[in-house]
Amino acid sequence: MQSAADILRQHIRTVPDWPQPGVQFRDITPVLQDPVCFRLLVQTLVVRYMPRDIDVVAGIDARGFILGAVVAHELNVGFVPVRKKGKLPFKTVSEEYELEYGSATVELHTDAVKTGDRVLLVDDLIATGGTMMAAKKLIERLGGTIVEGAAIVDLPELGGSALLRAAGLPLFTLVDYA
Ligand code: PRP
Ligand code: ADE
Repeated sequence: MQSAADILRQHIRTVPDWPQPGVQFRDITPVLQDPVCFRLLVQTLVVRYMPRDIDVVAGIDARGFILGAVVAHELNVGFVPVRKKGKLPFKTVSEEYELEYGSATVELHTDAVKTGDRVLLVDDLIATGGTMMAAKKLIERLGGTIVEGAAIVDLPELGGSALLRAAGLPLFTLVDYA
């Protein structure tokens, strides 16, 4: 029988040289498009995190919103968005970070996470780890504890997941591209 990871891998599309030459873009939209595969993904995360006393799910802009919000709903906890700079209307904390291509800043509302909250951090993919590291810093600045960072895809050759683990962030990823 195929594992959830095998099925997910079959639904991830690789687009060469996008958004710039040399980048192998791992496109998770076919996972979302297939209702059985999307449900399998959500259930895998729900089964893993239901017993872990999660208080809030934080999803990373933009693809992390899609998965994070559904998982939050299924865990019966709130969802908070870690957004790109300038999109959140209330008071924010912010962190600058480097991407595989370019740099950016992410922000979180100051009331999104409370001291002692157990936070599940969700994104679609870890590349250099810069985005998830910035999100981790924001959550920790607000006093939250990250139970785990969860992503569908890890690109271990870019070193992000190793960096995040070395910084003390436990990670759960389903599909690696070596
Ligand atoms: C992608 C991806 C992760 C991040 C991973 O988002 O969804 O959030 O890059 O890269 P890193 O590990 O090197 O930080 P992107 O910033 O392209 O935004 P998008 O989701 O809006 O496409
Ligand atoms: N974000 C950063 N690098 C990426 C990649 N190779 N594929 C998809 N999303 C990404």
